[in-house]
Amino acid sequence: MDVCVIGAGYVGLVTGACLAYLGNKVIVVDVNVARINELKQGKIPFFEPGLAQLVESTTNSHSLEFTENLAPAVKKSKVIFIAVGTPSLAGGEPDLSQVTAVASEIGSALDTTHKRVVVNKSTVPVGSGNWVEMLINQGMTSKKEHKSLAVVASRMSEKLEGEELPIFSVVSNPEFLREGSAIADSLYPDRIVIGSSDDFAISLMKELYQPILKQSFKAPSFLQGQPETTYSERNGNSAESIKIPFVITDLTSAELIKYAANAFLALKISFANEMAGLCEKAGADIREVVKGIGLDKRIGQYFLNAGIGWGGSCFGKDVRALIESAKEYNYPMPLLESTIAVNERQRKVLIGKLQEELKILKGRTIGLMGLSFKPNTDDLRDAPSLTIANHLIKMGAFVKAYDPVSNGVCAEQQPELNLTYCKDLIELAKNCDALLLVTEWDEFKQANWQEIAKVMRSPLIIDGRNVLSEKDLLLAGITYRGIGH
Ligand code: UDX
Repeated sequence: MDVCVIGAGYVGLVTGACLAYLGNKVIVVDVNVARINELKQGKIPFFEPGLAQLVESTTNSHSLEFTENLAPAVKKSKVIFIAVGTPSLAGGEPDLSQVTAVASEIGSALDTTHKRVVVNKSTVPVGSGNWVEMLINQGMTSKKEHKSLAVVASRMSEKLEGEELPIFSVVSNPEFLREGSAIADSLYPDRIVIGSSDDFAISLMKELYQPILKQSFKAPSFLQGQPETTYSERNGNSAESIKIPFVITDLTSAELIKYAANAFLALKISFANEMAGLCEKAGADIREVVKGIGLDKRIGQYFLNAGIGWGGSCFGKDVRALIESAKEYNYPMPLLESTIAVNERQRKVLIGKLQEELKILKGRTIGLMGLSFKPNTDDLRDAPSLTIANHLIKMGAFVKAYDPVSNGVCAEQQPELNLTYCKDLIELAKNCDALLLVTEWDEFKQANWQEIAKVMRSPLIIDGRNVLSEKDLLLAGITYRGIGH
């Protein structure tokens, strides 16, 4: 199927490359010409395991192309994904300027050769499906000035008699991919959600996602930890049956599913973090508590790891956007307000522990193990490391940092942040009064603690993710503090 994906960010690039891998002809469009030129040379603009290989193999087989010209890509395609950014504005509401521009451009590019499905993949506020449809219609009318708005408003999907206006349908298809495992999340999703009431659009989306729904594709060889055989080969099941839930719902519910999923996950983590504080006071261990509650199937074990709080491009943005949407209906959401408040408090927990151990932070040298908001990504958006670093610097500490992939990204994106970047863990530990584990990279879990203890000024490690072995650290003579135990 001919597919166009507008936006070469995380979501757009991963979606485009995966759909190309599944046998479609995909054109990824972006206004950023420099980014498109780099992609044409095989350079991926961010760190995502497996993506470079996937892009290389699909461009070599001519299934994936890149362009800055939206109109020809839209004209050629049956399905058009909008996957542009919707960052938060200062007030918490999403900035929809990129979606607005793209929807109007789609409108002026559409022609009457065939019906198209426009897919909202960007996380947009409730009601945006209808709004995108309006923008596309306006884009069409601004091109065909002789058409009155009344004509546009009255046009009904396919039932145009003697009408020359293009036919399209807007559907919502939220993404649930996590950075660091975005390809696996796209190819092996827990569910695919489609918000639409148009049978044509629903069946086209089902056709597009068929290999994923049936799990009938060959797993990419480079995707670590994923099966190399098809689902049917492994399970002896017929390739005909659907293996992945295909949720068909109305537009608004689909839009809300995306927000509600992220808000619930953030809420779960904030719950674990709030409980962690009580565990410390009462002498319990949060790791035991979440194990005990997570075994209850109704609760589940995932996203209950206490630490320095959640970050990244989605959770904070989506929880705030949900609260803002609810305000339009004069509906307070105290649970979500608290989810944010608990997270903000949690980011400062490491500072309190440092003060307990070192008393005075002025003039101390503190090393940050990790900068990205989580492992296997170089993304620093809303990263707890930045809050912690800023706080320590403000308190008069000298702050060093080492991240296996995002030292350079941080130096470039945060030129004002007075951090000293180190090339490895030993250089980081040298003369430190304390190390703070901020991002749980595998490299940190396997560190040589004896060597690290030798070079530190005072051997103290505060584990902000509860991933280090307290026993190993104590054996090396390092004082260990975790979260919630
Ligand atoms: C998230 C959603 O998971 C994904 O479905 C959505 O579409 C995009 O947003 P992502 O932001 O890539 O994905 O990261 P995720 O793995 O969900 O982690 C978010 C944050 O929560 C990270 O800062 C992580 O360190 C933190 N976290 C996660 C915890 O603190 N504890 C946990 O138990 C799990």
